Amino acid sequence: MDFSILESGFLPSKISTILSKEFDDIEYVGNNLPKILANNQIESEVLNLEPEKDISNLGIDELERAMLLYSYIGHAYIWGNLKTDKVIPKNISKTWFKISQKLGRPPILSYASYALNNWKLQDKNKPFDLENIRILQNFLGGMDEDWFIMIHVAIEYEAKEILSNLKHYFLDQNEDQSFLESALESIRKINSIMNRMPEKCDPFIYYNRVRPYIFGWKNNPATPQGVIYEEVVEYNGKPQLFRGETGAQSSIVPALDALLGITHSNDPLREYLDEMRLYMPIEHRYILNYLDEWSESKRSSVTNQDKSVKLTNEIIKEVHTFRNKHLEYARTYIHEQSLSNQNNSNVVGTGGTPFMKYLDKHLQETVPTND
Ligand code: HEM
Repeated sequence: MDFSILESGFLPSKISTILSKEFDDIEYVGNNLPKILANNQIESEVLNLEPEKDISNLGIDELERAMLLYSYIGHAYIWGNLKTDKVIPKNISKTWFKISQKLGRPPILSYASYALNNWKLQDKNKPFDLENIRILQNFLGGMDEDWFIMIHVAIEYEAKEILSNLKHYFLDQNEDQSFLESALESIRKINSIMNRMPEKCDPFIYYNRVRPYIFGWKNNPATPQGVIYEEVVEYNGKPQLFRGETGAQSSIVPALDALLGITHSNDPLREYLDEMRLYMPIEHRYILNYLDEWSESKRSSVTNQDKSVKLTNEIIKEVHTFRNKHLEYARTYIHEQSLSNQNNSNVVGTGGTPFMKYLDKHLQETVPTND
């Protein structure tokens, strides 16, 4: 098993920002999506796109760029179009499907496209910093939409510190406590980034302008039968049900749970999270599955010195703080907004989960077992 990803974090090492000229029409629609949506022209723009693209020569970073563009355009078509028939035209469905097969995840907007592959440094000569992140692709654009994604990217960037330190201590069994001290420092930094969400992402704007475009087609009252991908022979004309973009497709928290020995009891809510793994990049999925097995069978053999137990418990308390803040956001950004808005789905998250119940359950389960 290649553990290097725990050292480098889940952000890709190379992100393509523009595809070759064969994809000019797709790049054009992607770049102009905010104007196209405001002008209600997504349908005519999509019907003008060349139906089948040759993707055989695309490298992994270009495939991710293509996945990002097709996913944004596909969601804009479904959620920004007055038509109600919920059929994705062949102009995007066929190529989107081919790309998704190569990447090993469904043709839908996932966290990997929305956050992991959707940024660059605004000034390459300056170090990574929240305000040095430039988001590449938007639906409507604006500060709140950018900031919502920027916070996720900044957390992913910092997470490589906690993940690599926990890896050294627990997986490599290097019992130097400074690894746990550094991990504690890192999760505190993650929490301070998390706290900054309300600075530039307003709950009303998030709920009414950002969130509507990232829903999926599964467990969504707007698409009870799912969505048809026109002329995708493998789907045989049958509507497909895929879940939407959500932070639950980030690998950080499941990796921390496994490394720290935080367990969630088996119930239908836990199944949602396991299903989210199908929407993650394959190598992230593999490492999470490995960490789960390791956690169940080998974690208990790691040292139990008093000082390290105390430090580990401190880290778990910080993960609890993260989940607590996160639950507060689910309440203020979604639940409370939904009370004053009758036209916007509130019972499920964008990933399609009954979120208040399950986020609270996972919060309660984030406790040291040996305090
Ligand atoms: C305004 C900010 C946020 C809101 C309103 C929000 C909302 C949600 C919702 C509703 C879910 C349930 C799954 C679903 O979509 O159906 C969820 C899950 C999740 N989100 Fe967020 N989220 C926010 C920010 C973040 C950030 C910044 C991260 C960091 C990476 C994150 C990571 C997660 C994780 C890991 C889960 C799975 C929960 C667990 O394992 O306990 N979220 N989020």
